[in-house]
Amino acid sequence: MADGSHHKSAQKFAGSLNHAMIDDASADTAQNYANNFGKPGFDDITNCYIDQRYEGYTAENQETWQILFDRQMAFLKDNASQTYLTGAEIINLRRDRVPPLADINARLWPLTKWQSRAVPGYLPPKAFFACLARREFPTTIVIRPKESIDYLPEPDIFHDIFGHVPLHADATFADFLQTYGRAALTTSDPAETERLARLFWFTVEFGLIREGGRLKVYGSGLISSPGESRHSLESDKVERRPFDLDRVCDTSFEIDHYQPILYVLDSFEQLRDAMNTYAERLLAKTKRVAA
Ligand SMILES: [Fe+2]
Repeated sequence: MADGSHHKSAQKFAGSLNHAMIDDASADTAQNYANNFGKPGFDDITNCYIDQRYEGYTAENQETWQILFDRQMAFLKDNASQTYLTGAEIINLRRDRVPPLADINARLWPLTKWQSRAVPGYLPPKAFFACLARREFPTTIVIRPKESIDYLPEPDIFHDIFGHVPLHADATFADFLQTYGRAALTTSDPAETERLARLFWFTVEFGLIREGGRLKVYGSGLISSPGESRHSLESDKVERRPFDLDRVCDTSFEIDHYQPILYVLDSFEQLRDAMNTYAERLLAKTKRVAA
């Protein structure tokens, strides 16, 4: 996910990521549009999208993907939510290639109508929410360099596709994520935006779920991190709280170390229902303000 406010930094890609695929005039134009999104004349989110230009991946990029895939999928088989694992199969997530977005999208479309769209870099929050409201996931297409395989200052395609997109094959999660985007677009109150960012952080990025009496990871930041996924399940330094919408939204987070607090879902229906309640509440508040 290319929204920097939910990640380690709000800067455009740092020097550690491969620029070659996003270093051209069309990417610059799309990024400029994203930076201005919401201003007069900048209201078509599709102008923030770029092509994946698959031939731009080098042999080393492909090897990096394979290393990341192999070492994490072995762990996830027993420790990730079944919803994630099923989704990974549905979208044909494979070890032997960086995923072509077109291939994933063809598989997602008949199921949930979610699509992954390549973006040139950081999207400001409103642009990011506008994508989600359309069931479109802004996706980083570059991959981290092999020599810094464990250091990820920004989301890359491993985080965005391997970490996020399998859940988009699940109807319940798919509805939740669109409702999140729609609700976030209805408010311009900074306090609400902060609460929404926390909700995203403690679910989409760092969520745990209880399945068959066991804790499993589903949040993309855990799914895509060998170190933190293990820590989230095994460490006695993590406080694992039952999911509660208001409590989640009241919990601040820090981004530069392993999360000391995580929230545990009973089901994705619980998350979807909580989001629906939140969206109704936001709408009612917006109407009160307007009246
Ligand atoms: Fe993310």
